[in-house]
Parts: sequence; C-alpha cells; structure tokens
Amino acid sequence: MDYKKLLADIVILQDVESEEIEPLITVPKDSAMGDYCLPCFKFAKAMKKSPVVIAQEIVSRIGAYNFLEKAEAVAGYVNFTLNKKMVASKVVEKILSEGEEYGKSEVGAGKTVCIDFSSVNIAKPFHMGHLLNTVIGGALCRIYRALGYKVVGINHLGDWGTQFGKLIVAYKMWGDKKDIDARGVRGLLDIYVRFHEEAEKNPALEDEARAWFKKIEDGNKEALELFGYFKEVTMKEVEKIYKRLNVTFDSYAGESFYNDKMQPVLDELEQKGLLELSDGAKIVRFEGDKMPPCLLVRSDGATLYATRDLAAAVYRKNTYDFYKCLYVVAYQQNLHFKQIFEVLRLMGKPWAEDMVHVAHGMVSLEDGALSTRTGRVVFLEDVLNTAVAKAREIITQKNPDLEDKEQTAEQVGVGAAVFAMLFNGRIKDVVFDYDKVLNFDGETGPYVQYTYARCCSLLEKCACEGDDFDEEGIANDEAYALVKALEKYPESVVTAGEKYEPSIVTRQIVDIAQAFNKFYFEHNIKSAAPAVRNARLALVGATRQVLESGLALLGISAPKKM
Ligand code: ARG
Repeated sequence: MDYKKLLADIVILQDVESEEIEPLITVPKDSAMGDYCLPCFKFAKAMKKSPVVIAQEIVSRIGAYNFLEKAEAVAGYVNFTLNKKMVASKVVEKILSEGEEYGKSEVGAGKTVCIDFSSVNIAKPFHMGHLLNTVIGGALCRIYRALGYKVVGINHLGDWGTQFGKLIVAYKMWGDKKDIDARGVRGLLDIYVRFHEEAEKNPALEDEARAWFKKIEDGNKEALELFGYFKEVTMKEVEKIYKRLNVTFDSYAGESFYNDKMQPVLDELEQKGLLELSDGAKIVRFEGDKMPPCLLVRSDGATLYATRDLAAAVYRKNTYDFYKCLYVVAYQQNLHFKQIFEVLRLMGKPWAEDMVHVAHGMVSLEDGALSTRTGRVVFLEDVLNTAVAKAREIITQKNPDLEDKEQTAEQVGVGAAVFAMLFNGRIKDVVFDYDKVLNFDGETGPYVQYTYARCCSLLEKCACEGDDFDEEGIANDEAYALVKALEKYPESVVTAGEKYEPSIVTRQIVDIAQAFNKFYFEHNIKSAAPAVRNARLALVGATRQVLESGLALLGISAPKKM
C-alpha cells in the first residue's frame, strides 16, 4: 500500500497538485508524531499564509477515511496517524500472499549489471582480507537479481604476471606434486617464498624466471601446463570457500583472458592522440596533471594491470551492454579505478559514466593487520573453520540434542562471519572478533538466525484455530513497530541496490528481529484467544518469511532449528 500517495491524494490545497505534495511527505523519526508527516513550509510563500495556518486548513478539510485514524496540525506540520489495525493486517496479508516474492521487484527488468568481485590471485592465499570483498559482491549480485536486473558476476582472476615465471622455476627445482596436491596454495606459497630467499643469493634465478614467463607468453606447452596446474590448484581451494559462502560467478575471465584484447584498445588510444611516450613507456596523461598519469605499456613492452582493466571494460561493454559495471574492490585501488574511468572518458566512451568503483574497507583479526609482506597471512578457510568450531561449542551447550548439529554449526559459524562483514557501511575497516560476531544476543547473524528459528518453532507448535482474525491482536505498540519494520523491508532492498550498500538490508533485518523479540516477550501467542492468536501467528509467519528472504539475500543460511 502506497500510503504517501494515498495521503497526498486526500490533502486539498488550492493550486497544488498531489504530485507536488507526495515527495514532501516523510516518516517522522519519532513514532509519537504519527506514521507520516507533511511539512507545510514550502507552500507559505505562494499562498501568502503561515505554515501553521496552512497545516490547520489542510486538517480541517480532510474527510473521514477508514485507513486514517487522525490528522493533526502541529507547528506547521500535518501529522497523520494511520489505522493500525488496518495497516497491520494489510502488511501481514501482503507478505503472506507474496511469500518469497515480497521485497522483489522488476525495476531492473531489461538491464544488465556486471559485478566484478572477489577477483582472487592465482597461487596466492585466499586470505581473510578477501572475505569482505567476496560477501559484499555476492550480496550485491543477489540484491540486483531480486530487483529484476540481469546480473553478470565476474571473477577477474589475477592470473597474469612475472610471478608465474618464478613459480615455474621454483616448482621445477623444489616442487613436490604430492605435497602441493595435498596442501594446495600453502604448498605453492612455500616454494614461492623459497624462490625469493634463494634468488637473493643467486640473482640468475630471476633471469630464469623471466625466461619462463616469456615462454608462457609465447604459448610454450610445458610452461602453459604448469601455469594451468597452479591455476587448478588455486581454484579447487577457492571454489570450496565460495560454496561455503553461497557465492557463484557467471564468468571467470581473468587477466590472462585479455592478452589478445589489449592491442586494439592501445591502437584506439594512439589514434585519438591520447598515448604519450615517456622514457620509452606509454602513458596517458590527465588534464592539469590532476592525478598521476596512467602507465599502460612499460619500456620493455610489458603491459600492466591497468591495460588489462581497460581491455576488460571495453570487452564487457561489447559483450554484455551493461547498464552499470561495478567493481567491488578495496579502497586502496581508488586511484587505479579513477584513472581507468577517466581514460575511458577521454576516449569518448559515454558509458564511462556507468562504471562504479564500489570501494570497501579492510578486515583484520584482533591481533593486527593482515599483510602478505609480513607473512602474517590468515587463511580464510582457517577463519571459517574457527568460527564453525566456536558455533559448534555454543550450540552443544544451548541445545545438546539438536539433530544435524554439524550442518547447523556450519550455517551459524559461516553465517556469523558473513553477517559481520555486511553489518557496517562497506567503506569501514572491520576488526574481526569471534566472540562478538557469534554473540547470540548482539546485532549478529546468530541473533537473526535464532529469531528466525523461534518463528519456525512457534508456527510448528501452535496452529491456527478457525479463521476468525482479530486485528486488535496485532495493533498494539510492539506488534505495530514490527509491522512497520516489515513494511520497510522492500524499500531497504531498493536503497541497498541504489547505494551499493548491502548493510542497509542487514540492518533492516536486525530491526525486524529486535522488534519481533520485543513483541514476542510482551504478548502471549500460545494462550491468547483463538482470533487474537490467529492474527499473531500470521504476524509470526510474515516475520519468518521476511527474515528468511533477507538472510538469503545476504547469502546466509537459515536453519529451522538451532
Ligand atoms: N586481483 C586484484 C587484487 O587482488 C583485484 C582485481 C579487481 N578487479 C579488477 N577488475 N581490477 O588486487
């Protein structure tokens, strides 16, 4: 029900159309001021009357409507209070009849959004730092799909660079296939580190590495086979984690995919007079040197990360004709994306405006920042396993007889980690604290999951009797606050998409869970009179549905029992 529109239609003001009134109507912060309010200050000048008088006139002209309990003029505002019983039953009915469709829409129909996220580097550890990126990207994919967009989730694999030459040299010297098959990237990392140690003593190794990288570039069979093997080892591990995080991709076109797609872009830059020679390197400069030039070809002829990103952007536009192309990447790469987008603009691509760097912060464990350079790499797999082990302990304490304890621990442990990543605005740095994210009473995943399980168990234990429905049962303050939170859910999905901010959905479902628990502790369901109980059970059902949909959008499983 679009109450803003409805209210705008019943407000009668001379020479003012309801289309002008509707956008002025807002939801007051304090619910004591009613459900909606209309400030009258904007009309004062044209009407040559004070806002106080205008508000009073509006109120005196408003007729009786059964959806409206009252309209009051207060200090230049009209405060509208809706008929709680009617609103509550309408919202509940809508949610129950729409089911999983509640909160979805078709605003994006016919439009494609490319979302570049997670984008892991081959032969490098999938560490804790990737968690934020992977789950924000995954959530955005699902949010855009729920809004009717066609989504192309892209893993722009870091699968190109001289390090692969080093890895081949290292593997040929010290590699043990059995060990690497068993230990995966950890095995690769060991020989990679050893390469650097040995190369300090024996710089000739670096030349050898360069030669091997050249062989990859030239398509040498052995070099490509080894390179393919490293990729396979990495992806096997990474795929396991994606599965646990409920994340999927539509394309794994990584950096190497663009090897043969860069030259046409460089040619176009050349033709448009944008490419400048500087000490043998090819760069694009920006007006007034407002930012450092973008280096595209090194003096030795090698292309760069930026060159591949330019080719990738052009390829994506040609292949998917995107409405928007998002890059979910940490804020450290702000400059890189500014440069790429600006180069595209200089090339005269109007769609450069549709490219968005969805920047996010960093994650660290409590004991300090994570950095590959200092060697303090925390593998994401270990973090998830620890979270699951702790969840298992808590569940064993709370509910020792639970069936499927193992699966529930996985859902709660991983869900807690994912939820914590999606709770704050994405640009914030996050310190990961196991006890905090697993606190069943905090603003956490387990709290929302637990509330969901509570709804499920109430619905299981308590059946409706007859079909009398007493709306009074869901018109009390606590129930009404819950109704309002449920009613806001669809809007939170839209705003999350518009702002590339899944945390808006996360916070909305926390609000819903909190409102539900207040209602649950204040009002009896089981022993209420049948008609009241029926109404309350319907509200529980609606809550269950929205929590389930919301958690699903975030990529979090919702166990029915905990
Ligand atoms: N692999 C890169 C990194 O770990 C991220 C790639 C992001 N995507 C892109 N199109 N540049 O830093």
